[in-house]
Amino acid sequence: MAIAHEFKHARRAVALTGAGISAESGLGTFRGRDGLWSRYDPAVVASIESFNQNPRKFWEFARDIGWKFLEAKPNAAHIALVELEAMKHLHCVVTQNIDGLHQRAGNKSVIEIHGNIGRVNCTMCATTYAAENIVDSLVQQDVPTCQRCGGTLKPDVVLFGEEIPKKTLAEALKRVRSADVLLTVGTSLEVYRASSFPELAKENHAKVISINMERTRWDDFSDYQVHGSAADVLPRIVQAIRISF
Ligand code: OAD
Repeated sequence: MAIAHEFKHARRAVALTGAGISAESGLGTFRGRDGLWSRYDPAVVASIESFNQNPRKFWEFARDIGWKFLEAKPNAAHIALVELEAMKHLHCVVTQNIDGLHQRAGNKSVIEIHGNIGRVNCTMCATTYAAENIVDSLVQQDVPTCQRCGGTLKPDVVLFGEEIPKKTLAEALKRVRSADVLLTVGTSLEVYRASSFPELAKENHAKVISINMERTRWDDFSDYQVHGSAADVLPRIVQAIRISF
């Protein structure tokens, strides 16, 4: 398999993941017919403007969708990326996902460019809490507040209208720019910055491999495209690497 060959000879392979890799963990995607954004308008429920204007309404939505993210378990696609990393065929994962499933699966090097819903920050004093440590506040308070200063809490996720934290973005760009293989998995690549990553990687002559359930407008840009579920395709790639010379 040509893709296995690329991984075997890569020295700095980077995986860029999106919601599709967590689909088989029971988490829906954002776009498409059944996507979250077909039911909710992200500008209304998931923007920094809506959080600032009406934090109570924002938290209603965050609670609605948040528990599912916190309870999800990694699937075979996440495990395959852990195996690739352990085999030294994957340098790091850059993910747009906020579900923390790559770390829960066991990947060591993960850059979360959109944050993690398992963390909550105080908007006043910047204290960070693990959501699991403040479950009572999250359940009981309409707008959860900081135990130290009483400030309004906000999930540690990048909302529409917010920038990716500078340090995180710089680290992600460094990894992508120096990649010799960029594997994109389960992402429509509709959202900037991630949408620019394949081109940045190509500037370094990286091979771009895309695994996605359906075609995206980036398909023609990739060197290899595999259409199918990440939970089927990724373990097959790992298997092919194992048996190849
Ligand atoms: P999207 O919902 O835009 O795209 C998910 C992609 O995954 C689609 O192209 C699907 O075809 C594909 N897919 C679905 N099931 C799959 C499976 N089992 N295996 C492989 N592929 C599958 O999600 P993202 O590209 O991640 O931002 O969206 C990017 C950002 O937009 C998100 O991080 C989020 C959202 O607004 C924030 O929350 C800031």
